[in-house]
Amino acid sequence: MNVVSILNIYKDDIIVNSHVTIRGWVKSCRNSKLGLSFISIYDGSYIESIQVIAKNTLSNYDTDILRLTTGCSVIVSGKLILSIGNQQKYEIQLNNIQVIGWIENPDTYPVSAKKHSMEHLRKVAHLRSRTNLIGAISRIRNHLMQSLHRFFDKNYYFWIPTPIITTLNAEGAGDMFRVSTLDMHNIPKNIDGSVNFKKDFFGKESFLTVSGQLNIETYACALSKVYTFGPTFRAENSNTVRHLAEFWMLEVESAFSDLNDILDFAECMLKYISKYILKNCLSDINFLQKHVNEHIIVGLEKLLFSNYIRIDYTDVINILSESKIQFKESIILGNNLSSEHERFIVDKYFKKPVIIKNYPKELKAFYMRLNNDNKTVAAMDLLVPNIGELIGGSQREERISILDQRLLELRLKKEDYWWYRDLRRYGTVPHAGFGMGFERLLSYITGVSNIRDLIPFPRTVNNANF
Ligand code: 4AD
Ligand code: MG
Repeated sequence: MNVVSILNIYKDDIIVNSHVTIRGWVKSCRNSKLGLSFISIYDGSYIESIQVIAKNTLSNYDTDILRLTTGCSVIVSGKLILSIGNQQKYEIQLNNIQVIGWIENPDTYPVSAKKHSMEHLRKVAHLRSRTNLIGAISRIRNHLMQSLHRFFDKNYYFWIPTPIITTLNAEGAGDMFRVSTLDMHNIPKNIDGSVNFKKDFFGKESFLTVSGQLNIETYACALSKVYTFGPTFRAENSNTVRHLAEFWMLEVESAFSDLNDILDFAECMLKYISKYILKNCLSDINFLQKHVNEHIIVGLEKLLFSNYIRIDYTDVINILSESKIQFKESIILGNNLSSEHERFIVDKYFKKPVIIKNYPKELKAFYMRLNNDNKTVAAMDLLVPNIGELIGGSQREERISILDQRLLELRLKKEDYWWYRDLRRYGTVPHAGFGMGFERLLSYITGVSNIRDLIPFPRTVNNANF
């Protein structure tokens, strides 16, 4: 039994006229009056399904083939031939079909062959992986992960895991998910009425991490070039198409580097991966370009070929002020840019990736390096069209006295950050890094706009199903 996948057939030049066995699911089945059935089978390995032609002389033609519906699992064997029709390249002349699993009630099968809305598919997230769309996204997601690891390997970066459970807020602020084994119905209290976290599993308050950055900095200050890649958690109440409560973040950190070094590196990384995706995922990209978003190839080419704009926060404020556009939120030097402002700058003004740098220190986290003006920090946000912020990063404050000053200003307890401060006390070095939201990158690449469709089982406010 020469078992092959559809990907094998398309990529590995399986010899035409050889006998093959395919295992998969029925996409559709059409029976002609001439006693022939055309069964389209997919196995998820490739965007194309393969057409199988069955004659009514087969022993189980009436009992099985005529009863096939979308979703049935099957094993088919037959001769692989070049298709005469122009719908597909190959077909199989069926010798044998074995139905492994039937569909209980085809009329109510949640992912039947017709087109379904994204909202419907989210409600059946356990079955939506069977659709062409989620299949394409999943394969691109896999290649994107591979391409990032390859890129870092080629550049001699080491992959370091960072913990998911933490007792420190890496961003110094923001909402974290609590991790606790305390009995919610009988919480131990201190004399003053506060919760006695000494009784909790780790002996202190603990949370799911919002970023592995502080941990990865320790390894950058030893192995020089490192990255971490894993799930990250934010309990922000942001019900938008860009926010997940659980998302994957890639975080990069390099010793003896400044802000410009990591800007160059981030640009280089995005160019590498866009080239990789255009080369290795073209069949899925073409499918998405045709069915979801006709601009995605142009989008990938923008990442690959354009020189990204590099501009200071203050200059962005000037452009916004001079635009004379009535934004919902007014433009004030020193305030955060709203997503509306960012969209104007990227989508309308520059129309290509933009790196905004040197933000006022008040807008950014405690660890960012203070610039000589004592007002701004060596921070950067990389924005891409239609998405907004894709990457956030900075040069890190490597001078202990200034770091301590920043902790004080932000009312963060120095003692909590004792090990982080030690990096500055023992052989400190200038270093810099950034974090990239993986699903946001995937959203840009696939042209699928809602971040809930770019992770198999999205976790958002009021939703942790499946
Ligand atoms: O800008 P952020 O908050 O930066 C950090 O966490 C730094 N510690 C990174 C570093 O320098 N090592 O987050 C980084 C990126 C954002 O630019 C965005 O792409 C993504 O993570 N991100 C989210 N993606 C999906 N859902 C959310 N709720 C996200 N919050 C941030
Ligand atoms: Mg950010």
